[in-house]
Amino acid sequence: MRTRWMATAAALLCLLSGFIAISPASAAVHVAKYDFENGSTQGWSARGSGVTVGLSDTAHSGDAALLVQGRTATWHGATITPPFEKGVTYTVTAFARLASGQPPNTIAMTVQRTPAGGSTTYERVGAGTVTDAAWTELSGTYTFTADSTDLQLYVESSDATSRYHLDDIVITSDGDPTRSGLASDFETGTAQSWSPRASASLTPTTAVAHGGAYSLAVSGRSASWDGPSRSVLGAMAKGSKYEISAWVRLGPDVTSGNLGLSLERRLDGTPAYQRVAAPKAVAPGEWTLLKGTYTLAHDVDLLSVYIESDGGTFPFYLDDFSLTYIEPKPIQTDIPPLKDTVPFTLGVAFNRAQTLGEHGQLLLRHYGGVTPGNDMKWDATEPEEGRFTFTEADYLVNYAAEHDLKFRGHTLAWHSQTPDWVFKDGDRDLTPADRALLLQRLENHIRTLVTRYKGKIAAWDVVNEVIDENRPDGMRRSKWFEITGLDYIRTAFRVAHEADPGATLFINDYNTEWPRKREVLYDLVRKLRAEGVPIDGVGHQLHVNIEQAPASNVEDTIERFAALGVDQQITELDVSVYTDFVSTYDTVPQDVLTEQGYRYKELFDVFRRHASQISSVTVWGVADDGTWLSFFPITRLNPPLPFDDELQAKPAYWGIADPSKLPPLTRRLTVPAGTIVVDGKRDLEWDLLPDTPIARVGDLSAGFQARSTGAGLYVMAEVRDPSNDKNDSVTFEAGGTPYTVRRGGTHAHGFPAHAKRTDGGYRVEARLPSGTAGTLRVTVHNASGGDDIAWNGAPTVVPAIKLATASKAAPVVDGTVDALWARSPEIRTATWIQGTTGATARVRALWNGAGEHGGTLYVLAQVTDATLSEDSPNAWEQDSVEIFVDPGNGKTKGYDDDDGQYRISFSGRQTIGGTFDAFAIKDNLTSAARIVPGGYVIEAAVTLPTITLAKDALLGFDVQVNDATGASRTGAVTWNDPTGQSYLSTARWGVLRLTK
Ligand code: XIL
Repeated sequence: MRTRWMATAAALLCLLSGFIAISPASAAVHVAKYDFENGSTQGWSARGSGVTVGLSDTAHSGDAALLVQGRTATWHGATITPPFEKGVTYTVTAFARLASGQPPNTIAMTVQRTPAGGSTTYERVGAGTVTDAAWTELSGTYTFTADSTDLQLYVESSDATSRYHLDDIVITSDGDPTRSGLASDFETGTAQSWSPRASASLTPTTAVAHGGAYSLAVSGRSASWDGPSRSVLGAMAKGSKYEISAWVRLGPDVTSGNLGLSLERRLDGTPAYQRVAAPKAVAPGEWTLLKGTYTLAHDVDLLSVYIESDGGTFPFYLDDFSLTYIEPKPIQTDIPPLKDTVPFTLGVAFNRAQTLGEHGQLLLRHYGGVTPGNDMKWDATEPEEGRFTFTEADYLVNYAAEHDLKFRGHTLAWHSQTPDWVFKDGDRDLTPADRALLLQRLENHIRTLVTRYKGKIAAWDVVNEVIDENRPDGMRRSKWFEITGLDYIRTAFRVAHEADPGATLFINDYNTEWPRKREVLYDLVRKLRAEGVPIDGVGHQLHVNIEQAPASNVEDTIERFAALGVDQQITELDVSVYTDFVSTYDTVPQDVLTEQGYRYKELFDVFRRHASQISSVTVWGVADDGTWLSFFPITRLNPPLPFDDELQAKPAYWGIADPSKLPPLTRRLTVPAGTIVVDGKRDLEWDLLPDTPIARVGDLSAGFQARSTGAGLYVMAEVRDPSNDKNDSVTFEAGGTPYTVRRGGTHAHGFPAHAKRTDGGYRVEARLPSGTAGTLRVTVHNASGGDDIAWNGAPTVVPAIKLATASKAAPVVDGTVDALWARSPEIRTATWIQGTTGATARVRALWNGAGEHGGTLYVLAQVTDATLSEDSPNAWEQDSVEIFVDPGNGKTKGYDDDDGQYRISFSGRQTIGGTFDAFAIKDNLTSAARIVPGGYVIEAAVTLPTITLAKDALLGFDVQVNDATGASRTGAVTWNDPTGQSYLSTARWGVLRLTK
């Protein structure tokens, strides 16, 4: 008996109705071949009742052929849906032979089809006289020119009961139908090649049209998946990429609905459904484009595209469908393989499609390791209890073994992409009383997977994303945790270790570079290892963005876990070009891609420095055409990887392979107005902003800032340089003139400067006479050797950062203004971000500590606003006050997870904004609102559990008043931030200092 592995390998080698598209367009192209050697009928089935189509070992070549028997009419026989497209000429050849004892007769190949709007036709392709003595070749050509549905290619015989064999049926075409693409515009007034998936009616109509006069009206749908479908079999080649698009519009009287474009593929009767364009909202009365790309990665005997809704059976219109072949660019072979440029395994997330064609070449050239992006998750491997599906996983593991790629298994236990049944008993949700049952399921799942791939999978992500640093105990409230506590983690590692003691077992998570999460994960790993739980390593996903987290955070995390003595891997690296969850680019600007290149560089600098602690770095996707960030957290253009959509190297590639080839980058520096005492001491003014980092090289790193004043440009640099050499220096080159200050304090005449020793380094302050024109270059020089580090950019002068104070007191939050508020000075909103007049507020803040952790910030806003409205459905267009709080005063683009936007309307309605799930801050707000003559009063208490409030702490802080007139916002004013972007970025908020 063949082993499973052998069976899979054999399936890979045999080309079964596999579509090839390699020859030039003029030569004949091999479209399909049916040789029956894989032990199936390869899609051929019986035509006529009583007929059977099976396999026999009387073969023209190889070991198997079809045997057709049980016929009782001449048109009975064997049939298949052929991969035929309109306008293409096909040649069909087949070998036929009668079963022994059958008298000679004529066997014919025929095509049946139904032209749009016409009646069914039967057209002969080829025929011949066949005997039981030998194989006879049948051959002919076929083409059709009218849009048609229900195509069948079948074999019949002049003798109504003759039994016969068929083998080696080959279809070739004159052009290459897998390159020419397809289109439907319904301008013929027919449904063209479209037919309903179930009972829907498809009616060509001139009621509306996207282009021309006609579209296709779809009505009477019986289910969300019922609607128009069109065969694209034969139009797509395996391993090739296509763009598929269609215009849709809601039917008459339909006011809302989501439509998407999907694809059904089948082999031997097993269907699979894939999304090409996820369902999206279609606005009433408008045409909406559904568009996506698809790479056919599987052998198929049925392939069709269809339009479906994500719920409901509402009618809609379809028009201007097209399928277009995307010509791949050859991969670059004159650039170094990335894997050869790093001292650890360089891996990549992949799926089957990415092992084919150019993607496969790119993968093998640049990467030495692989992680399945989805194919080993629970929903993919055990969709129903005890029913395991390993087709994709086996393929990927075998591919890796064949090409000598290290394999990371991902992932055994996770809260996401896990089927519902896991946490249910029938219809009942499991509770902690079902702990044993859930752990048993976990054990069975893990034992099955890890045993199956024992010795072939070097590292497993055993548990994924278990931490929630915003919980008192640091644990994510997944069903796993709610039902079993920490036991699911203990069980998962124990079982994985038992099943394959040779595999390295990881706990994997994101945001481990942020200190709060880092510490919670650290404590958990230390505790479990101390118990004997076999955790070998920590996986840092490292889904970062163009600005955050700082590379130094990543370095701190790696150093922290090194102390635990665990292996570490970077498991899912990608660099989003966005800092928030809202913005979108139509085209990503070149300088953003360059900046991304420098981000890759600074991250790989960190990884290389810690190569002894990091055994592998995996990027999360082969190229930008296959990244989860196209859909997460919203659908948008987001190219986060080293290779672009056309598989060509980006600056991100050069940031890893050879940073000297990166294009020069002009960074941006925000320079507020401000006054500094140049004495080497760090004034409070410097603490209003974080230092701009200059990335570390060797042991040298630095951060710096600037303030503008009429008398020049104040600059300050904090240098970390443990080798204490008085000739170490910082040079500020502004307006073309260099100003150097040495660590020992010496500098040229003509400008005030000062240097001062700090812990592990020194600080330099100076006032440059040159102002802020042109570029600024900061170079930090280590006199005792090693490379200099530098920053190069353009300063943007902005108004001084406002600073307010909050006294310590705890008012009652009830909408009445306690006398306590008078302890803090009053500030006013006067920075208009919309309009120039309207509602404004007088604001005061108080604070109160809560022992060791947390504390509360109180805010009073007395709003002047004569007419109050909550008419708009959008909270930000109602009369309301927004309070912005950044506990770390990080002044980051985008929000960190404890940054919050707390909005309270005049009637007391609360709305909260933060990171996309606002998880860390959503419970922080308590408030009261009271309408008073001429306006309203808001009192708010914002708890800040992620920091310890204390005297002199600085909070990022701002207040905004939204002024509504009827259903729209007619004015908006803040205290400090002039950008109108406070809801997306904390960078320009003001600062609140806590006093006693
Ligand atoms: C992502 C895949 O890349 C997507 O294709 C899928 O739709 C969702 O999951 N953290 C993880 C990965 O551990 O498994 C996730 O992968 C990305 C976040």
